Amino acid sequence: MVLVGFMGAGKSSVGAALSRRLGWPFEDLDERIQAREQRSIEQIFRQSGEAAFRQLEHKALRSLVGELGASAKVVALGGGAFAQADNTALLEQAGLSTIFLDAPAEELFRRCQQQQVERPLRGDAKEFHRLCEDRRPCYLKAGLRIETVGKNVEEVAAEAITRLGLR
Ligand code: S3P
Repeated sequence: MVLVGFMGAGKSSVGAALSRRLGWPFEDLDERIQAREQRSIEQIFRQSGEAAFRQLEHKALRSLVGELGASAKVVALGGGAFAQADNTALLEQAGLSTIFLDAPAEELFRRCQQQQVERPLRGDAKEFHRLCEDRRPCYLKAGLRIETVGKNVEEVAAEAITRLGLR
């Protein structure tokens, strides 16, 4: 199962809750990229630029999907990964369930401001809104969309499990 959505959507925290509830391992794609590169996401963007980051992201996703075989896993993608056609094609070929964690851009921006996470593409409120809008059609291609406003992490995880018929 693969969690997608914009920065601040809750992909990592909902992913961890799903992993605990289902007893499946959890992996955050950005963590894999950082471990492979021995650099933070922020360093990769600063030293190599976004295009290089996207290549590393695709390679990391390809290796992750290749390792899966028949085993179940909860995966959180970075906010831009599901907006790249080569990544969506890879996930579709692998037949993985994709879940879009949705919230309005204002709410996502607020959540990002409250977190101590370095996000090279966050920008100011206007840039954040524009990028969020640009990517929305891509996120809507996910198999399932869950509205996250007014729900806590556990409620979102429980809803994903019910709606995917996993319990
Ligand atoms: C990005 C989102 C980040 C990270 C990178 C690029 C994006 O992940 O992959 O900074 O393009 O939206 P989060 O969505 O976990 O912040």
